[in-house]
This record gives sequence, structure tokens and C-alpha cells, in this order.
Amino acid sequence: MLAATALALLISGQLGNTADGKAAFESACGACHKKDGMGVAGLAPPLARADWAKSADPAMRTYLPLVVLNGISGKIVAGGKTFMSAMPPQKQHSDEELAAIAAYVVGTLNPPPAGWTDYTTAEIATLRTEKTDRKALLELRGKLVE
Ligand code: HEC
Repeated sequence: MLAATALALLISGQLGNTADGKAAFESACGACHKKDGMGVAGLAPPLARADWAKSADPAMRTYLPLVVLNGISGKIVAGGKTFMSAMPPQKQHSDEELAAIAAYVVGTLNPPPAGWTDYTTAEIATLRTEKTDRKALLELRGKLVE
């Protein structure tokens, strides 16, 4: 039964993605957000059970990749705590790596929304070309957590 589940996940590509995503997340994001994604009060907000990830708005899907690709700064209230800090853009990661990290954070560190499907590398490649800025990202966040 377990083996069958593992095989099914492997075939659907999820197991590989999640496993890679966890390791990639821990090394790329763990220094600030902690390896378990719980963040550090006053320094970096939690990404596990995150307020924005609870949104049913389809734009929720774009939030994490856009933040990682563009960075974010300014006042953020997350998990009831205020953050007034800055995250530099993390563009150095490949589309594959970011798809795996995003899938891990949104689909594993958070309860994924109904009908959730993992990120594809093509999706990340498209988001990479999207023009946005700090103000637009904070607005998007405001829409997700309202
Ligand atoms: C150098 C430290 C640092 C690294 C590395 C880092 N972040 Fe961040 N991140 C921050 C800080 C600081 C903030 C909050 C910025 C603010 O206060 O406006 C943040 C905010 C975020 C947010 C918005 C959270 C919210 O509640 O809206 C997301 C999503 C995020 N980071 C994802 C990631 C991911 C995924 C990675 C790894 C690819 C990563 N970060 C790497 C420091 C970091």
C-alpha cells in the first residue's frame, strides 16, 4: 500500500519534486526563514501555515515566485507579528529549482488549496518575465490576506 502510494506519487512527479524542493528550500531559504519555514520573529516571516497561502484567490499561486524573483520590502504582518525588513531578489535559482521550492512551500508547508497542482518550470519562466515592483507585491499581499 505504501509502496503503491509512493509509486503513484513518483509517477505523477510529486515525490521527486517535493524531495528536491525540501532540500532546495532548506539551503536557499532556510538561513532566513528557518529550515522548518517557521521564520524568525523580527527578521523573516513564517512561510509555513502562512496567512497569504490560505487565500482562495487564484493570484495566490503567483505570490511566492514573484516575491522570490523580485524580493520584497516594507511592513508585513505575518502570523500576528510585524516585520519591517527586506528580502533581496533570489533570481539566481533556476526555473526547475524555484518550481520545486514553490511546490514544497505552498503544497507541503501549507495546506494546499482545493484542486492544487504543482508549479511547472514553464510557469516560473513566465513569472520571471513579469514586471512587478515592491508596491504591486505589497498590494497583491494585501488582497490575499484581507
Ligand atoms: C537573506 C534572508 C532571506 C532569504 C535568503 C530569503 N528570504 Fe524570504 N523574506 C526575507 C525577509 C526579511 C522577508 C520580509 C520582508 C519584509 O519585511 O518586507 C521575506 C519575505 C518573504 C515572503 C513574503 C512573506 C509574507 O508573509 O508575505 C516570501 C513568500 C518569501 N520571503 C519566500 C522566500 C523563499 C521561498 C526563499 C528561498 C528561495 C526566501 N524567501 C529567501 C528574508 C529572506
